[in-house]
Amino acid sequence: MSSSCGRNVVVTLFGESHGPGVGCVIDGFPAGFTPDMDAVAAFMARRAPGKAPGSTPRAEADLPRILSGMHDGRTTGAPITALIENINTRSGDYSDLVRKPRPGHADYTLHVKTGGANDPRGGGHSSGRVTAGLCFAGALAIQYLAAKEVAIKSRITAIAGSAVSCKTDKYGLDEAARAAIDAARRDGDSVGGVVECVIEGLPAGLGDPMFDGVENRIASIVFGIPAVKGVEFGSGFAGSALRGSVNNDPFIFNDLGGVRTRTNNHGGALGGITSGMPVVFRVAIKPTPSISIPQDTVDIQTGKCCRIEIKGRHDACIVPRARPVVEAAAALAALDLLLDP
Ligand SMILES: Cc1cc2nc3c(=O)[nH]c(=O)nc-3n(C[C@H](O)[C@H](O)[C@H](O)COP(=O)(O)O)c2cc1C
Repeated sequence: MSSSCGRNVVVTLFGESHGPGVGCVIDGFPAGFTPDMDAVAAFMARRAPGKAPGSTPRAEADLPRILSGMHDGRTTGAPITALIENINTRSGDYSDLVRKPRPGHADYTLHVKTGGANDPRGGGHSSGRVTAGLCFAGALAIQYLAAKEVAIKSRITAIAGSAVSCKTDKYGLDEAARAAIDAARRDGDSVGGVVECVIEGLPAGLGDPMFDGVENRIASIVFGIPAVKGVEFGSGFAGSALRGSVNNDPFIFNDLGGVRTRTNNHGGALGGITSGMPVVFRVAIKPTPSISIPQDTVDIQTGKCCRIEIKGRHDACIVPRARPVVEAAAALAALDLLLDP
């Protein structure tokens, strides 16, 4: 089981939700870069629990401790290791999960895969908490890309199946989205949503046809984010309902003589290769699996059907916290593509 992504900048995530900590090792990050660590902390705070509406009350500062790969504030080119300690764990909440897997979570499949050797506390290595390490690596990548005039932007486009308007709060939610999350929380339930991400400034010609395309390389990291169940590029599934004459993006020259397209239904990738237009993709994030409503499950020790009531602390909606994780994944894929030989 590998928890590494990327080929030029290889990021390995480590840690478990209720172990001593989580983090990442970044191998191949360019030497001589001076990250703004306050900006790194601010980025990671967007993912940290206990802030966004519907977020788990599990409060963690999520401040990374750099163990290697930086000297005098600069990257050295050696592997960068960041450790984020777990300081607010309550493993007792999860004692039942060893025998009664939570519907929608990875408890059952991990148990099968590892022959029961997995850490079941809070989802272990499959917990959303492990994405803190991805956010640290992504924060460095975002800053490195910004210096190369590549920008990563995102917004929440839907919550609980309803479109989110442009009048949003600092978490990217509008009034209706907040109300949907509050209603789910009151019911002991959860809701999901969609995050749209745009990578601006990538030159044309990155990526390869077939299996090493831009879409493949972005999707392979984005699908590593727990709770991501769909990724679409450009007009995506909606585009499949259009005529070619509508879905095609006519080529034009811009004022500087560069080739552009008038529309961007292709989402910045044609034949797996960047076109020079913004790379646009949307990510479907499912409702948080851990809900307090009693659910059917099985007791794998007794071999009997049973009910489960999940008592731990969980987000009624993880979409606002998953949004920076999507940005981090996009930044790491974009950096990896830019560093292709
Ligand atoms: C930032 C973030 C936080 C998450 N928090 C929770 C949580 O509090 N409770 C929960 O059941 N799942 C949470 N998840 C989702 C689960 O980890 C995920 O659904 C589970 O590992 C199963 O994987 P899958 O949904 O990709 O199949 C979170 C995911 C992310 C990205």
